[in-house]
Amino acid sequence: MKNLYELKDLEFSYSLDSHEVKALDGLSLEIPRNSLIAILGPSGSGKSTLLNILGLIEPVQAGSMLFQKEDISKVVEKEKNEIRKFKIGFIFQHFHLIPVLTAEENVAYFLNRQGLSEKEKKNRVKEALESVGLWEHRKKKPLQMSGGQRQRVAIARAIAKKPDVIIGDEVTANLDQKNGREIMKIFAELVKKHNVTVILSTHDPMVPEFANQCFYIQDGKLREE
Ligand SMILES: Nc1ncnc2c1ncn2[C@@H]1O[C@H](COP(=O)(O)OP(=O)(O)O)[C@@H](O)[C@H]1O
Ligand SMILES: [Mg+2]
Repeated sequence: MKNLYELKDLEFSYSLDSHEVKALDGLSLEIPRNSLIAILGPSGSGKSTLLNILGLIEPVQAGSMLFQKEDISKVVEKEKNEIRKFKIGFIFQHFHLIPVLTAEENVAYFLNRQGLSEKEKKNRVKEALESVGLWEHRKKKPLQMSGGQRQRVAIARAIAKKPDVIIGDEVTANLDQKNGREIMKIFAELVKKHNVTVILSTHDPMVPEFANQCFYIQDGKLREE
């Protein structure tokens, strides 16, 4: 299997009061496995919508999406939950960490749903925090950490699941250049060593430097470069 995702003529609309806002308008693309992918495009072009569909957060309304050869439009909610739980790590722009939990507790918390043994859970938390360089900060809570550190906790949380794909929406947007680059190096390393695909939407001109492939979206469609 070469492609992780295959999207064909994908359409998506939001209904807002009495009218519809078309966010994706016939988008077709293939995302290869084991690569770092950048999704580029102006604000409002449909990047977040696309990532939410790739992450099975939003449904396939029209067109088709295969994930690991499986037609997602035919998958029931219960099975989508399983796919999200085991195969997809999602990272948000504003980190979404739980403020009362320490770094290690934040990472462990999302593993609770996976039904792992305590020992396996501990190992995964340690491995994930080490891979983002935060093991010595594991007892800190989000408010005691910098923006870059918080984003790295969010990445560790996604890594600890051992997902097939990590999806990040504007993950470097709230970081300075130095922290942004550190995070891109972590993603590049993950792709190289752990057989994972990383898909990032971004405005940040630094991100494509690290990407194996870039897709440019405009008005909900793929623009050929
Ligand atoms: N929850 C929503 N309700 C209504 N319209 C939305 C919603 N989210 C996004 N949109 C609209 O969908 C289009 C694509 O938005 P989005 O996917 O967020 O683009 P991007 O991430 O590239 O900025 C825009 O016109 C936006 O205003
Ligand atoms: Mg967006």
